[in-house]
Amino acid sequence: MRHVPTVVTVVMFDADQAPCGVTIGSFVSLSLDPPLVCFNIKKDSTIHDELIKAQHYLIHVLREDQAAVSDRFADPNLSTRDQLIPEWIEEGPHGIPALREHLVRFDCRRTQLHDGGDHTIILACLEGIEEGKPSRPVVYHQRAYHAVGEQVADRSTGI
Ligand SMILES: Cc1cc2nc3c(=O)[nH]c(=O)nc-3n(C[C@H](O)[C@H](O)[C@H](O)COP(=O)(O)O)c2cc1C
Repeated sequence: MRHVPTVVTVVMFDADQAPCGVTIGSFVSLSLDPPLVCFNIKKDSTIHDELIKAQHYLIHVLREDQAAVSDRFADPNLSTRDQLIPEWIEEGPHGIPALREHLVRFDCRRTQLHDGGDHTIILACLEGIEEGKPSRPVVYHQRAYHAVGEQVADRSTGI
């Protein structure tokens, strides 16, 4: 799967123990009507049970200069409390800590859970969007972070 480039997001939510965030590359737009998104979480992840219980998620799409943010929220050696660098955080909707800096932030409400092998698939309804300063997304590909490259073609179908 290293050949498949993915967007890099940090999903933040309010857990029972402490506010949490996790780096998620499986985020995709699923449906426009209703506006649904989905992402997957490993069943053996330490935050799995808390994540699937949460009612709301703040999903931050990271910018090309935010690889360090992705690494921090993917670090298995940091406790969830230690991941939250205070200068990075502001209070977001639903009282959930949010990243100040992002390309775009989606405020989502959990709607469904599905079994996905060793992952759980989480479907969530989009309830709000907050754009950050104009930039480009960071892309994860071949186990490294990249900026979006040159445009190679226009779309020709007009769809
Ligand atoms: C770019 C990137 C994308 C990731 N995407 C996912 C994902 O979609 N689902 C997932 O369960 N873990 C994903 N991870 C891994 C989690 O961020 C990481 O395993 C987790 O924070 C570590 O917690 P654990 O030790 O409890 O498993 C990703 C990591 C990186 C660096």
